[in-house]
Amino acid sequence: MTLHKPPRILVFAGSAREDSHNKRLARLAAERLDRVGGQATFVDLRDYPLPLYDGDLEGREGLPASARSLQGLLAEHQGLLLASPEYNGFITPLMKNTLDWLSRSDGDRSGLTLFADKLAAVVSASPGALGGMRSLALIRQLLGNLGVTVLPNPLAVPRAAQAFGENGELVDESQQQRLDALCQRLVTTLIKLQATDSPSGS
Ligand SMILES: Cc1cc2nc3c(=O)[nH]c(=O)nc-3n(C[C@H](O)[C@H](O)[C@H](O)COP(=O)(O)O)c2cc1C
Repeated sequence: MTLHKPPRILVFAGSAREDSHNKRLARLAAERLDRVGGQATFVDLRDYPLPLYDGDLEGREGLPASARSLQGLLAEHQGLLLASPEYNGFITPLMKNTLDWLSRSDGDRSGLTLFADKLAAVVSASPGALGGMRSLALIRQLLGNLGVTVLPNPLAVPRAAQAFGENGELVDESQQQRLDALCQRLVTTLIKLQATDSPSGS
């Protein structure tokens, strides 16, 4: 008998590009999270356009509608899975800007409170040989600064243009297994945390 609710996991990539490798990896991860007992929500950041963070704009107009919508989604999910592309050894401006807006207060709700109890897994994909692994260290650090606990063993997918097969899965079996293991660990740990929060399993 299953006593737990499937943990909800918000999934997005730090790229809005139509043919983004990281969106492809994020979508694949969302599908695997569902398969191992989670309930993933993939969002395309292209659907949540945000201006570059500007304190004066925020002071005048408050949070943009897209930031409020994403905060609403964040509040409804216990976990996060982020696919972080790498630009010049760093996370992308889109990823940073999105997380910066999400960390801001919307009236009486602090963005930081929304991040505080979250558990996350991070992945990256790049056409290069390192798979964007330098961005993984930085996205981990940023999420940690926001109060998010990040699982170990992130996955970096190198040579991303050749890495995905027709079925959307990773061609390299060991990479696919590592992604599956990461997704499994995220779901299993969230279920354990749920049990701790609610010992009756309700
Ligand atoms: C400004 C810029 C800097 C980049 N720097 C890196 C880099 O440091 N390391 C890397 O692996 N790829 C780098 N790339 C290549 C990206 O990994 C590649 O564009 C990738 O497709 C971006 O992710 P996406 O496919 O999810 O949009 C860079 C691309 C741009 C536009």
